Amino acid sequence: MKIIVKTLHGLEEVLMKEIEALGGQNIKIRKRAVECEGTLPFLYEANLMLRTALRILVPVYEFTAQNESQLYQNIKAFDWSKYLDVRQTFAIDNTVFSEYFTHSKYAALKMKDAIADQFREKFDMRPSVDVEKPDILFNLHAYQDKFTVSLDSSGRLLSQRGYRNPGHQAPLNEVMAAGLLLLSGWDKTIPLVDPMCGTGTIIIEAVLMALNVPPQINFNDFGFRNWNNFQPMMWNRIKSEAQGKIRSSPLMISGSDIDSNAVALAKSAFKKLRLGRDVQIKQASFEDLIPKSRTGMIITNPPYGERIGEDVEVLYKNLGDTFKNNFSGYDAWVLSSNVAALKQLHLKPTEKISLYNGPLEVQFCKYELYEGSKIEE
Ligand SMILES: C[S@@+](CC[C@H](N)C(=O)[O-])C[C@H]1O[C@@H](n2cnc3c(N)ncnc32)[C@H](O)[C@@H]1O
Repeated sequence: MKIIVKTLHGLEEVLMKEIEALGGQNIKIRKRAVECEGTLPFLYEANLMLRTALRILVPVYEFTAQNESQLYQNIKAFDWSKYLDVRQTFAIDNTVFSEYFTHSKYAALKMKDAIADQFREKFDMRPSVDVEKPDILFNLHAYQDKFTVSLDSSGRLLSQRGYRNPGHQAPLNEVMAAGLLLLSGWDKTIPLVDPMCGTGTIIIEAVLMALNVPPQINFNDFGFRNWNNFQPMMWNRIKSEAQGKIRSSPLMISGSDIDSNAVALAKSAFKKLRLGRDVQIKQASFEDLIPKSRTGMIITNPPYGERIGEDVEVLYKNLGDTFKNNFSGYDAWVLSSNVAALKQLHLKPTEKISLYNGPLEVQFCKYELYEGSKIEE
């Protein structure tokens, strides 16, 4: 079957490699998505294992429509009872880029009406809508007059891993953190440091990766479990095989943050996961960090200076000095939207990757630190 795996802008290539490693076929890169072919076991495994996937969709129906009546008629012409039982609830997610349909919510509303009318005519009953926790989640995608309806096999955003505690102003998206680790080429064995770890998203994703822990280890409520072709034995086998591949290697991963509340949140997330007992998390300003080994990698997401009155240029200058003075021998990757502040590191990036952190365009820059690292004027 055809499968569309959605991701964040800039993570398509690393997602493609993840899909390749899981055995996906005919892989093609799309905008903020990767398309492939796979079997039902592949679909289950992809939901459990893909670290840079946001949602995994299975297209079931394609048609063209240039007005609401065509949209309604096309939806009504398809037999939805193949995928939806009248006693189940449903909802429709939509991504509509079309000059014919300028209100995407309206297109989804038309689809809902057409499905409800079809069931009423056939069965004298209709399935209810539940936007919070639907049994079956459809995705309506349109580009101009070309529509695709897919089943959302994930049923929710896969970035919600369940370990996050609320209480920090700017936590990184979990899928983005996993993507940064994959983009950096961190090989899971060299020491990894996040000196501004906040809630710990980067180091948590690193631990999950290093120990081969499925990112969805704590979740069972995938959309595909409510499909009428759900194979519980197949799913249980895939889940227990993945659990059997979890490693218990020693970790050289550490995180610190100046804010004691952030450090407490990071520690509590590790506790929730029952992982990372040997991960060091402490309250410290980055200037005071002394590396424990001669080489390693830093991946960090400093403040961007978005908050009113926040001046981060001095902070970045100090960060650059700390890199040069304390971390020679390391590769440092910094994610920031603040180009002027990045210049204050006074280091020349050897790689620069453009990404989006929510609505913000950000740069993910690599600095190779050695005695007398190149200074950028
Ligand atoms: C954008 S947040 C990092 C968010 C983190 N990646 C996460 O997923 O939660 C930036 C962090 O830098 C920390 N910070 C600011 N100045 C610092 C300093 N001098 N030393 C260490 N941490 C600092 C802040 O407390 C904040 O938690």
